[in-house]
Amino acid sequence: MKNLLIVHGPNLNLLGEREPQIYGNDSLKTLNASIESFAEKMGLQVKSFQSNHEGALIDFIHEQRNWAEAIVINPGALTHYSYALRDSIAAVNLPSIEVHLSDVNQREEFRKISVIKDVCEKQISGLGKEGYFRAVEYLVGLDVLNKLQGSNPDSKGRDETLRMVVKLLKESFPKYSWVGIYLVEGAELVLHNYMGKPSPHTRIPIGQGICGAAVHEKQSIIVDDVNADPRYLACSIETRSEIVIPIMSGNKVFGEIDIDSDLEAIFHDSDQEILEKCAAVLAKLF
Ligand code: SME
Repeated sequence: MKNLLIVHGPNLNLLGEREPQIYGNDSLKTLNASIESFAEKMGLQVKSFQSNHEGALIDFIHEQRNWAEAIVINPGALTHYSYALRDSIAAVNLPSIEVHLSDVNQREEFRKISVIKDVCEKQISGLGKEGYFRAVEYLVGLDVLNKLQGSNPDSKGRDETLRMVVKLLKESFPKYSWVGIYLVEGAELVLHNYMGKPSPHTRIPIGQGICGAAVHEKQSIIVDDVNADPRYLACSIETRSEIVIPIMSGNKVFGEIDIDSDLEAIFHDSDQEILEKCAAVLAKLF
């Protein structure tokens, strides 16, 4: 996935002056510049568009349908009643995410209804401009998942697929400074493959470290500040946060995806959601 559309609906041209207590102080130009810079760092090309007119938004989506590979759309108030905009998103059949700066579920009743969200992968609301960044990351994550599923893991074999997923994740997410997979062997986790700086922890007893805790507890763990977590086993002094996702089927854990970042509090629900989907694909290989 390389080509991304950012689409803004009615009234978003007045961002920065329109009800700043709800929509923030950034102008649309500043917002677009932030989204474009974020997406470009992830290797994407962006075309941004805003209109106050339903038909102009639909025309833009149609015109760009052969260039674009994904859409992030803030439909403004069209969210709540535009079946025509909804149909245009369904028609171009591109993975799309609905974003709102404010939390539409905590405002007037009419804003709780979205006729758009069913044709989108998800709705993200109430996170301000961060919501657009999460949408971009989620779309990149879906692309990783599609590549993993499309690579025919059954015939490729387990070892090659485990190496492929590490490479895909490391190369798709600049914020992931270390990506590795550990496999359960008896009472230990053994490092299968990784990308990033060499780790001293090639074998971790289950129950030790954040890696061991995730397998022991059979659940994903996000640590926002590794230096504040007594379980943490240091891999690199630059690491600030970590996410660990067990590869499991039913109650049986086969291994885990471990990711470190040099940025604090950088892993979100959207990382967890995508990584758990990747882990579910990998679990079928055991
Ligand atoms: N930090 C992990 C150890 C593995 S390295 O990060 C690669 C932990 O606390 O379990």
